[in-house]
Amino acid sequence: MKKTSKIKILLSNHKSISMSRFINLCLYETGNGYYTKKKVGEDFVTSPQLSQMFGECISVFFSLIQKKTFQTTNFLELGPGNGLLLRDLIRSIYKIKKEKINYFFLEKSNFLKVNSLKDLSDKGNITKLEKFILEKKPYYFICNEFFDALPINQFERKKNIFYEKRIILKNSKFEIIRKKSKFFSRKKIDIKEGDVLEISPLSNLYLNKIFKHLNIYGGGIIIFDYGPLVKKKIDTIQAIRNKKINNFLEHPYESDITYHIDFQEIKEKSLKFGLKAYGPISQKKFLYYNGINERFISLTKNLQSDKKLKALESNFRRLTDPEGMGGLIKCMYISKKELDLSYFK
Ligand SMILES: C[S@@+](CC[C@H](N)C(=O)[O-])C[C@H]1O[C@@H](n2cnc3c(N)ncnc32)[C@H](O)[C@@H]1O
Repeated sequence: MKKTSKIKILLSNHKSISMSRFINLCLYETGNGYYTKKKVGEDFVTSPQLSQMFGECISVFFSLIQKKTFQTTNFLELGPGNGLLLRDLIRSIYKIKKEKINYFFLEKSNFLKVNSLKDLSDKGNITKLEKFILEKKPYYFICNEFFDALPINQFERKKNIFYEKRIILKNSKFEIIRKKSKFFSRKKIDIKEGDVLEISPLSNLYLNKIFKHLNIYGGGIIIFDYGPLVKKKIDTIQAIRNKKINNFLEHPYESDITYHIDFQEIKEKSLKFGLKAYGPISQKKFLYYNGINERFISLTKNLQSDKKLKALESNFRRLTDPEGMGGLIKCMYISKKELDLSYFK
């Protein structure tokens, strides 16, 4: 950690800071933040790191809903991390379409540069977005474990009073305090005694912009993230440091901090923008319906060594394991267009 962490400076000047500000600095503060120092995959594994089959199934999904045409739709991945999914998508979409199309990515950490994808320049036009500014065209937005990496605030109801959880520094340790919140006096929200409501202002900003764009120009958004089919109003913050779960207040710049996505809330929001929402369904179900089994069999045929075969089998199992990523990660698709996606139930 750099000598002067911004969190400590802020807390020596303020009595408390919001949880979202604290998490934002823990993860993204220049030079100190977790994602500015650690590459995705050092403490936790994401689906594209396990196998190319993940991205290939997403390509199959888009080729099926687009009937292989892809027309003039741009692809935009939010938070691609080290870019593995983007790589797999570009390669497999090119195999299907045999034509270059436009790919964009928006990534806050500096690890992924367009230059590191230049070996794919014969298969796609790739642009890094410095700002979330969109062309007046349809886009397919791809988000794998993006929303659960965005900072949140937590609110609690106790004895009919609404509190916001905030962070203070006490005896050189970070602690949570509860401050009366005016937020809910202005909004009608179904929150009972003891409930914890998790709200990500940044997620809402992104979703509002994406949904507005989908409503006007068409396209769609596919979301893969950790979260239940129906989220309970409880504290779901989780921090991982050196592959182990720990308290997010204890090692601020050393831990990855995430929370569970509320898919039903995203769905409700999309409906307000006149969109259709499909799912959430388990990652396993999505992958099976988009050909992971067939792809697995085909890949095993080309493998020369037992070691590679075992690795492929193990990664196939991890991607689809109902007790692991296959079940815990859910998939949702949202678009303006009505689609025949009966398996998304
Ligand atoms: C959990 S990682 C997932 C990475 C990748 N999608 C994968 O599946 O391997 C979340 C990623 O989102 C990026 N990110 C977080 N907030 C962002 C923002 N506001 N804009 C762009 N990228 C962001 C992080 O830097 C990180 O690379």
